[in-house]
Amino acid sequence: MEIAFQNVSADYQLGPIRSSLVLNSVDLEIMTGSFTAIVGHTGAGKSSLLRAMNGLLVPREGKVKIGEFLIEPLINKFTLTNVRKRVGMVFQFPEAQLFAETVEKDICFGPLNFGLTIDEAKQRAFQVLKQVGLEPDILQKSPFSLSGGQKRRVAIAGVLAMEPDVLVLDEPGAGLDSTGKREILSLIASWNKERNLTTVLVTHDMDDVALYADKVIVMEKGKVVMHEETRKLFGNTEQLEKWHLNVPEARRLQLKIEKKTGVLLPQICLTVDELADALIKVGLI
Ligand SMILES: Nc1ncnc2c1ncn2[C@@H]1O[C@H](COP(=O)(O)OP(=O)(O)OP(=O)(O)O)[C@@H](O)[C@H]1O
Ligand SMILES: [Mg+2]
Repeated sequence: MEIAFQNVSADYQLGPIRSSLVLNSVDLEIMTGSFTAIVGHTGAGKSSLLRAMNGLLVPREGKVKIGEFLIEPLINKFTLTNVRKRVGMVFQFPEAQLFAETVEKDICFGPLNFGLTIDEAKQRAFQVLKQVGLEPDILQKSPFSLSGGQKRRVAIAGVLAMEPDVLVLDEPGAGLDSTGKREILSLIASWNKERNLTTVLVTHDMDDVALYADKVIVMEKGKVVMHEETRKLFGNTEQLEKWHLNVPEARRLQLKIEKKTGVLLPQICLTVDELADALIKVGLI
């Protein structure tokens, strides 16, 4: 499903008080099946941009198109419910929202709410559990008896059980060890490829961006200041400095080696493997 923001501005309403704009005249297009990373400093509006994609934050001005749906300032509840069926949202620390006595009941909650029968929902729970790399015997356990990584997977399975067309995730690897984080992100990347699932990921880790994303959105003070192909972004030293962005480790090493030796490598390297290949090619190792 395609996502398009047209001149979207949004704020938070706290009782009678409105916050300043957290999204400020945002225009962007995200293609079906793409894997887009959102980066930017704390408070830049990354989570707010995700919320605007599934109607948790409704624009004050402008519109968000999600496939055939339109999220506008006066959107009705029926359309919002339909949008939320199609756009699966994985919040930061999603395991905090686990609540049922068993993993199965937790995963079935969303599908049952959206009208599936108990048998259909259980069938889905069984399938998505496999997709997040967990064994079926976990279904009858309490979610609270699981490890941190297992809880995270169950929470993500609950979103996948809705069979969304778009998956938006807010730092899905936060708080996990590096292996757990890599495993979760690799799973997300494989769903993106295998099902053409439009994927939008907020992350602070530029190595994750380099490994998984084909496009990057850079946010600053509620505005989208860059929307670029990943390799192009990390080749654009001027813009990276302007927005105070880090680069992936391999790219950082590349820049250091090029400065020290005066030899320019034939491509922008995003991974250690690419860097090694480039160094061999020019005869530096
Ligand atoms: N529920 C809320 N009510 C009022 N203001 C909010 C709310 N959530 C976020 N904000 C404000 O909106 C702005 C953008 O916040 P947002 O959470 O989108 O940033 P972020 O880029 O996700 O930051 P981080 O990297 O810290 O998660 C901030 O100034 C924040 O204080
Ligand atoms: Mg955030």
